[in-house]
Amino acid sequence: MQEGERHLVVIARALLAVGLDRLAERFEIREGGLEATREQLLELVPGASAVVADPAVPVDRDLLDAAGQQLQLVANFAVGYDNVDLDACRERGVAVTNTPDVLTEATAELALALTLSAARRLSDAERDLRQGRWLGWDPGAYLGLELHGATAGVIGMGRIGRRYARLVSALGAQVVYASPSPEPEAERELGAKRMGLPAVLASAEVISVHAPSTPETHQLIGADELDLIGPQGVLVNTSRGSLVDAEAVAAALADGRLGAAGLDVYENEPEVPQALLAAPRCVLLPHIGSASTRARRSMALLVADNVIAVLEGGEPVSPVG
Ligand code: GLV
Repeated sequence: MQEGERHLVVIARALLAVGLDRLAERFEIREGGLEATREQLLELVPGASAVVADPAVPVDRDLLDAAGQQLQLVANFAVGYDNVDLDACRERGVAVTNTPDVLTEATAELALALTLSAARRLSDAERDLRQGRWLGWDPGAYLGLELHGATAGVIGMGRIGRRYARLVSALGAQVVYASPSPEPEAERELGAKRMGLPAVLASAEVISVHAPSTPETHQLIGADELDLIGPQGVLVNTSRGSLVDAEAVAAALADGRLGAAGLDVYENEPEVPQALLAAPRCVLLPHIGSASTRARRSMALLVADNVIAVLEGGEPVSPVG
């Protein structure tokens, strides 16, 4: 880099102004925009010192090679980083960062909202009302599950899973969980019980998935697991679509083998399987887990902090791996 030259930072899609403005004060910026195609991204990245990605941007060998050897950082605008090939970054000496902590509350609250919405059949009820199918108060219509007194099964007790466990516990649910390691604090404070995955699925009325997307967690919840959750059970997923077999969920909802589902994430976003769109007792959201104003602002600032730290010769603030 020549004297007086500015680093190029490529925002693959979009970054909120609060982060973008800080970066623009120091660096040259190129933005792909929300509609950027893969081809456009490959043309945008050459010469970049940092690339800001998000869950919709696969960062693979081709993208890294297109960026070039001066690339120092991939800053992911998300806590999940399954879109980034970490090995390829490591081989090229490219640092990777994510946005942990700042979205924990927003995402856990969204999981709670989905839990309540699915458990009480809010989508079906609202759809019927909007379509003029509400004929008056009906003592037997839309009967659902109360969280108070229910057992909630948390799959993955990381930051978001722990926060969700606290929220459902505050509503009177008993918490059981499956996790690679015990969480003594949740056990002590909430009385949470650690069990194997099948035991959690069989004993809880509500299952909320909070594990990361890895080859090991791919379709962690498939047809057999749905049978364990059962006709009274509610499945919620706010982590990544790859953890749940969506076609199996749709089939189980259609024939009453699964009570209800609340999903925010899908394997090939923004595609949502047709069978799921048609399924009853199902609340579907467009990947908005972290979409509170506060969380998204903080995420954008953390992305900017990471880029500034690395390009100015310091250590990344929230490195991955
Ligand atoms: C969003 O999906 C995230 O991982 O932050």
